[in-house]
Amino acid sequence: MKKTIIVANWKMNPTTLREAKTIFLGIKKQAVKLKKIKTIICPPAVYFGELKRISSKDKILLGAQNCFEQERGPWTGKISPKMLKTSGAKFIILGHSENRKAGENDEIINQKIKLALKSDLNVILCVGEFERDEDGRYFDFLKQQILNALVGVNKNYLKNILIAYEPIWAIGKNAKEIITNIQLQEIVIFIKKILVDKYNVNDFKDVKILYGGSVNHKNIEDLNKTNADGFLVGRDSLNVEKFGKILKVVNDN
Ligand code: PGA
Repeated sequence: MKKTIIVANWKMNPTTLREAKTIFLGIKKQAVKLKKIKTIICPPAVYFGELKRISSKDKILLGAQNCFEQERGPWTGKISPKMLKTSGAKFIILGHSENRKAGENDEIINQKIKLALKSDLNVILCVGEFERDEDGRYFDFLKQQILNALVGVNKNYLKNILIAYEPIWAIGKNAKEIITNIQLQEIVIFIKKILVDKYNVNDFKDVKILYGGSVNHKNIEDLNKTNADGFLVGRDSLNVEKFGKILKVVNDN
């Protein structure tokens, strides 16, 4: 059965392990009942051990929010993808705009992707333009971001990569506006075509595109009518009730 992927990006929240467990258990209670959803929760990595212990195997999967681009060594404070993998992560978000803003460039993101895939993690690669211009230059920007991130990434890994389209103008509480279904559908096809061309795959179904940026319990019903293969949720993923509603709406439609 085709499952819709819903990723919770908790970012640097919540501030205590106790709260993390409460939210996690609240989400788990609802997620285990839903057959058509694949729920991936990306908490701060320090909570992995405890959350893995209370997770329902195969029902809720854990994802990391970033990693360092080296395997080991004298890198104080850094965490490698293999460490995340052995601590319970199955997925990893890479290239998030908040990390790009903090200095990550395409080259570093590419190194991280290759190391994460080698470490047996599935990659959720975030891409997205700052703004939309009338000439459509954001299409080239997006294409370049994707191709740069995937330099040297072998076709065999395509099944381990999800692309999350997160236009910066639509993310977070300062979002200018919400994407329309037509805008989203067009981008999903555009990104699929980039991957189909690069990897010479026959079927659009072999590439999975998520949408992220102000997805919430109110607009999910509408966004779910598009061709996106799933959603990446920030703010609403920390609220059990709101996130539960998102999961249920997607499951039931
Ligand atoms: P948001 O965040 O849902 O709060 O807009 C999404 C993200 O940054 O991944």
